[in-house]
Amino acid sequence: MTEPTICPRTHDYMPGCVQALATVHAADRYPVNWPADPAGWLTPSGMLGAWVAVEGSAVLGHLVLARPGETLADAAGLPSERLVSVARFFVSVAARRHGVATRLLDKAIDIAAADGLRPVLQVEAGATAAIRLYERAGWRYVGTSADDWMTADGRVAQMRSYVAPSLPRTTEPDDAVMR
Ligand SMILES: CC(C)(COP(=O)(O)OP(=O)(O)OC[C@H]1O[C@@H](n2cnc3c(N)ncnc32)[C@H](O)[C@@H]1OP(=O)(O)O)[C@@H](O)C(=O)NCCC(=O)NCCS
Repeated sequence: MTEPTICPRTHDYMPGCVQALATVHAADRYPVNWPADPAGWLTPSGMLGAWVAVEGSAVLGHLVLARPGETLADAAGLPSERLVSVARFFVSVAARRHGVATRLLDKAIDIAAADGLRPVLQVEAGATAAIRLYERAGWRYVGTSADDWMTADGRVAQMRSYVAPSLPRTTEPDDAVMR
């Protein structure tokens, strides 16, 4: 696999994002239930921007930055105005274990840093691949809280919260799109 490009998600990428999400849902039940409007699900309220990892016209991965809820801010122990949350984050099944997710996360940290913000995220306790990824990349675990939905294996969701490590900035000021 050649190195993917990480770029802002434009309208043209949406069908590829939905296609990639379908592979993730089938393999991992992420999301647990296939949404009636997948493009809408990929565009949650409070979204500040969305990025894709692409190789040619194929979408390999996807990530949204959004305003964080109070639970995450409380767990992080930082004011929500200083945080941004990572959401709708996945890599298509065929593109895994090639560093695509790592590149997307690094880009998110970089873009957030351009606006003086720190990324945070929540991950369900059963998402072991994602947890391994975050912990290996130096994200700091700050606590677990129960959520109001059931996992595919019938448990009440247990959301683990993480705060991003800081990275040296490589993003140009023009990339700071979170206005
Ligand atoms: C989690 C996910 C995004 C990882 O994507 P990826 O592009 O394969 O991840 P990377 O290649 O960047 O992995 C980097 C490191 O994370 C860890 N990791 C990633 N997938 C792993 C797995 N299945 N098992 C164990 N460790 C894993 C490894 O340490 C890996 O390094 P290595 O390949 O050198 O061992 C992908 O598996 C996915 O989309 N999962 C389903 C959706 C999901 O859980 N999203 C997160 C919601 S919070």
